[in-house]
Amino acid sequence: MRYVDSFRSIQRICSFSVVVSIALVRSTSAIAAPTILLDRATQGMVVSAHPLATQAGLSMLQQGGNAVDAAVATTFAISVVEPFSAGLGGGGFLLMYQAKSNEIKALDFRERAPLNATKTMYLDNQGNVRPNASTNGYLAVATPGTIAGLYEVHRKYGRLPWKTVIAPAIQLAETGLPVSWRFVSATKTRLPTLLKNPDAQKIFTHNGKTYQIGERLVQPELAATLRSVSQNPQDFYTGTIATAIAADMAANSGLITQKDLQQYRPTWRDPVCGDFRKARVCSMPPPSSGGVHLLQILNIIGDTDLKTLGWHSPDALHLLIESMRIAYADRATYLGDPDFIKVPVKALISPVYAQKRRQEINPQKATPSSQVKAVDPAVLQRLTKESVETSHLTVVDRDRNAVSLTFTVNLGFGAGVVAKGTGIVLNNEMDDFAIAPNTPNAFGLVGGTANAIAPNKIPLSSMTPTIITENGRLRLAVGSPGGSTIITTVLQIVLNVLVYEMDVRKAVAAPRVHHQWLPDRLNVESWGLDTLTIADLKRRGHQIEERPSWGNANAIVVMPDGSLEGAADPRGEGAASGF
Ligand code: GLY
Repeated sequence: MRYVDSFRSIQRICSFSVVVSIALVRSTSAIAAPTILLDRATQGMVVSAHPLATQAGLSMLQQGGNAVDAAVATTFAISVVEPFSAGLGGGGFLLMYQAKSNEIKALDFRERAPLNATKTMYLDNQGNVRPNASTNGYLAVATPGTIAGLYEVHRKYGRLPWKTVIAPAIQLAETGLPVSWRFVSATKTRLPTLLKNPDAQKIFTHNGKTYQIGERLVQPELAATLRSVSQNPQDFYTGTIATAIAADMAANSGLITQKDLQQYRPTWRDPVCGDFRKARVCSMPPPSSGGVHLLQILNIIGDTDLKTLGWHSPDALHLLIESMRIAYADRATYLGDPDFIKVPVKALISPVYAQKRRQEINPQKATPSSQVKAVDPAVLQRLTKESVETSHLTVVDRDRNAVSLTFTVNLGFGAGVVAKGTGIVLNNEMDDFAIAPNTPNAFGLVGGTANAIAPNKIPLSSMTPTIITENGRLRLAVGSPGGSTIITTVLQIVLNVLVYEMDVRKAVAAPRVHHQWLPDRLNVESWGLDTLTIADLKRRGHQIEERPSWGNANAIVVMPDGSLEGAADPRGEGAASGF
């Protein structure tokens, strides 16, 4: 039940299904000239989940900034315009492509469990899970990493001054913005939790009533916080903001202390990479499961001629779904924070292993998830020896450097807590741990000891920022929000572009399917598959559940002539814009 109820609300929070057009703001005296957003351009491009955040990033490129400057500015702006999805009180991952050296780097700025966290902190005296303790309120919050991550990547690779890249976000927080249906919908879904927190209620409601679409959201406390961070990024971890967060935690039985904040550091990690046909696919390594399972599924598909089978044909879909099922079974057993457990990455992404698992797939019949197990540790050892809420943004600059960045506060408005006086929405990332063996989290994902809670440990993620090169040149940068569905969303966009040769708009907009081993259910977007295909999949034994839609992906492809084409997901309200 927990899964069903929360998945539905997540659908509402993270995966909106209505396409909106951007309204032109009218002044009383004259109609403002519309800005035309170019989703095909030559000099540079930004795609994000909100037009104002895209604009913030694009303005950096136009001032001579590089992909990192634009990505940092866009990320700060998203934190203001989509406070329900991602922000300063959360964390994330980024992948960065440097065209000159053809190198890809991965930065982990995911949240960490507080030092006082314990394995059983969400259980009562009888060992039962305490409802909502890992999702709502102060105890659900993990130590945020967003500012440390943004500062780290900018310090090393940015070109414009730090103050310049934060400036658009400060302005958006100060002058405000008209809220859209996504904000209103997220607020309605999380209202009972938001009302329990005085600052959240004050900022995101009118005396407890939700905003109407088009009303202006102004966030003066967040603007002040951003100003402090623009003067001194360490203020969040060792200065006045750290003091405010720790004091609010202490007053409300939260676990985060000044020491947690003081010792937070982002981590550079080696991306996971593999070959898929002509392409080199690189993505986020653990503590995200995204890259490992994206590559695992691509390996299982291998050289199957999907194109001849036909896009969304029952045979192609069946192979995709069964591959997803296997990958998510391995995820539940083996994936966790690599600084705490040994994750058999090499084996899981090895083509030899994929071939072995491929043989288990019956081409005509769905294998019930109860019969699909994670790989036997002995086999794995041999192989090793052989060898709704989150936000994504994608940037490519003039030199064809790229950043693919996904960050989050987890569910809509995170823990529903705004740290007193700071305007910062705090995450509920602790729910991404396996809070008890085989107890599904808000996304229905189960896990075991590999992803158990421990002090300072990072909860397992599904975020899959991905960068693909061909012949040493950038080809595609892509990512999406959507919790457990992120991996399969990115997978399908990658296949749509690389195998089916769809243009990027179609690739991002195309209907999706999702299977995550448990629950043993195939999610299909409404209007996504025709009746005969659904009947065929049911005949093969798939238990199908239609859902309105999920994800809010975006992507940029480099065209054969070197120009850029970008697309924001029509399921959201994002925008691609280049020059
Ligand atoms: N909070 C969702 C994820 O990291 O996968």
